[in-house]
Amino acid sequence: MKSILFVDDEPLLLQGLERQFRDLRKDWDMHFAEGGQAALTLMERVPIEVIVSDMSMPGMDGAQLLGEVLARHPHTVRLVLSGHADRDAVLRLVGPAHQYLSKPCDPGELRGAISRALALRDLLANEHLKQLASKVKSLPALPALHRQLTAELGKEEPSLERVADLISHDVAMTSKILQLVNSAFFGLPEPAATPFEAASFLGLSTIRSLVLSIHIFSQFDSNSINAFSAERLARHGWRTAMAAKKIAALEHSEAKMGDQCFLAGLLHDIGQLVLAAGLPGLYESVLRKARSEGLPVWEAERSEFGATHAEVGAYLLGLWGLPNPVVEAVALHHRPAECLDRGLCPAIIVHVADALAHEQDADVTASVGPQPDRACLIALGLEGRLDFWKETIAAH
Ligand SMILES: [Fe+2]
Ligand SMILES: [Fe+2]
Repeated sequence: MKSILFVDDEPLLLQGLERQFRDLRKDWDMHFAEGGQAALTLMERVPIEVIVSDMSMPGMDGAQLLGEVLARHPHTVRLVLSGHADRDAVLRLVGPAHQYLSKPCDPGELRGAISRALALRDLLANEHLKQLASKVKSLPALPALHRQLTAELGKEEPSLERVADLISHDVAMTSKILQLVNSAFFGLPEPAATPFEAASFLGLSTIRSLVLSIHIFSQFDSNSINAFSAERLARHGWRTAMAAKKIAALEHSEAKMGDQCFLAGLLHDIGQLVLAAGLPGLYESVLRKARSEGLPVWEAERSEFGATHAEVGAYLLGLWGLPNPVVEAVALHHRPAECLDRGLCPAIIVHVADALAHEQDADVTASVGPQPDRACLIALGLEGRLDFWKETIAAH
């Protein structure tokens, strides 16, 4: 039985939720609290797996409540239901919330978001994975610059100047970002000379994702293992990100989903970096074993650690509170069929993009590369699209 807590200052809204989800009573142990204080008191007595909170409430608002929940019950998944008027409070939530849903929210959508959050939580609660993560001594922290950029992007009218200005304060980041966006990968019409130009060419959300990936890759000592190249892995991430964004665009997905695909593509193999840096000796032998036995690297990881780089990466991104669809896409990039979303979602797109990118970066993990899961694409009625995606991406 999964325990879910709904918090709102409107008793009628809570009663509505109770009615809508009545048929789930067998699976969900539902609790309802009128306001933040009542929610915290209840959480002292009852362990809660997912909390769904309203934003604007008198007394303690949703941002304060979820900040408290983060501090007192860090394993509870935090979802926010927010209306447009709550923009300032939502900004304060950049850290504490796992996912936002806008009000009014369709019950099917809310139910789907809760089910997926629970499935992801189960996946990342794997004992082997926890042990593995605890062996990796220092997991990197989410960079402050990413948090500042997220706050700027959350504003009603995010400003290109302010974003460029924030990046410019970090000289090392500025030079790396310019180097990257001017590389052949991005095919800019003309070279970008400043962060402002880079942001105007590529868009703010893309720039924010690149900042995060550059930061993470620069944290690790790329020479820790002979069989492993962080640089090659970073390049593979860019290729996957570009392919994933392209597929999302070809399928007319919303811009937000395209952005999530891009970010998840950049970071999908980040778990390999964590393992290579945190457990270099052991990871080197896993990579050697994969190579000598002709195994995909994630299978060799699973037999050694009981978890794979996909889950390790998702675990880290989950700790950072990145959006659930991004965490899910990273977690499931080698097994998209487990995605609970019954449509085209970032997990499926990143899986396909990864396979297509691996064809181009054949040697990225010095092992057998992933293949698109055809059965999964057939089930979604998308198998016929695969060749089209492949050709379009190859043409760019
Ligand atoms: Fe992978
Ligand atoms: Fe990959």
